[in-house]
Amino acid sequence: HRAIGVAVLGLGNVGSEVVRILQEHSEDLEARVGAPLELRGVAVRRPGKDRGVPEELQTTDAESLVARDDVDIVVEVIGGMDLPRKLILSALNSGKSVVTANKALLAEHTGELAEAAELHRVDLYFEAAVAGAIPVIRPLTQSLAGDRVNKVAGIVNGTTNFILSAMDETGADYAETLAEAGRLGYAEADPTADVEGYDAAAKAAILASIAFHTRVTAGDVYREGISNITAADLTSARALDCTIKLLSICERIPTPDGKERISARVYPALVPLNHPLASVNGAFNAVVVEGENAGRLMFYGQGAGGAPTASAVMGDLVMAARNKVNGGRGPRESKYAKLKIAPIGDI
Ligand code: HSE
Repeated sequence: HRAIGVAVLGLGNVGSEVVRILQEHSEDLEARVGAPLELRGVAVRRPGKDRGVPEELQTTDAESLVARDDVDIVVEVIGGMDLPRKLILSALNSGKSVVTANKALLAEHTGELAEAAELHRVDLYFEAAVAGAIPVIRPLTQSLAGDRVNKVAGIVNGTTNFILSAMDETGADYAETLAEAGRLGYAEADPTADVEGYDAAAKAAILASIAFHTRVTAGDVYREGISNITAADLTSARALDCTIKLLSICERIPTPDGKERISARVYPALVPLNHPLASVNGAFNAVVVEGENAGRLMFYGQGAGGAPTASAVMGDLVMAARNKVNGGRGPRESKYAKLKIAPIGDI
């Protein structure tokens, strides 16, 4: 089979790891896909030497890179909203499959993006958008597609978990720990998204949408961040044999009239020390899924950082590339029901 052309948009923490893996593992990837994966170009803000990509592959013109005839799959890891939305739509509309890690964009525009992917019969994959390396999108959209999922809950922001664990373990200072999370590549460019719970709310919206086959946007999610949590709060929690975790909880709520609503909420919660989520520390994430027939499943691992997130991107890229080679397509967008969001007082 001819080579599959890949364009990578963005060369930050995740993009540079994606490029490294593409280069280091090209033989293995070719064997798994059934065709070589060839990097056609990387869209960057400022081209430069020593960025792990030959300068001739770097371009500031993302639009032209996406439009190239020899690009089959576009990997979007720039982040942001308007520019990636435009680039992803133009890729899908020209028959290219898309892999994205952009939770903020998906939490707002999944409907529009998924429709474009359906229309042009291409793949739109986003395993990396929620909980980094941890497979959670594919279990929900594929492995559990024959079950009824009632609840998805857990820790889906590495930065805040890193901060809360450090404050709990060592009494470390909030600001100092936040800076460290930035250095380690966990925090968003603007850490407000992490500490005020916007990042977790976007992920909750994505999880609720795919778990319950409905459309939930970030604005539907009740949200509180951790910026008001003090060392004294953690000490008080300890006295109750608890710790504090920023939880994202999505669940079906039956209503008295026999219908159902969705609750999606993010807030710092007291978690008993003997609960499995209490021992999820550092930038690790964990997601608990409850299926009517599957029972309780737990997914645990590295939820942030360049290489772990790139691992999820690469998995999606291999799936999309295999489909380009073999002619298949990834999980279909399910026909979704419009479920109402429960007011927070109902819970
Ligand atoms: N800033 C995010 C986090 C990165 O800390 O979890 C992964 O989405």
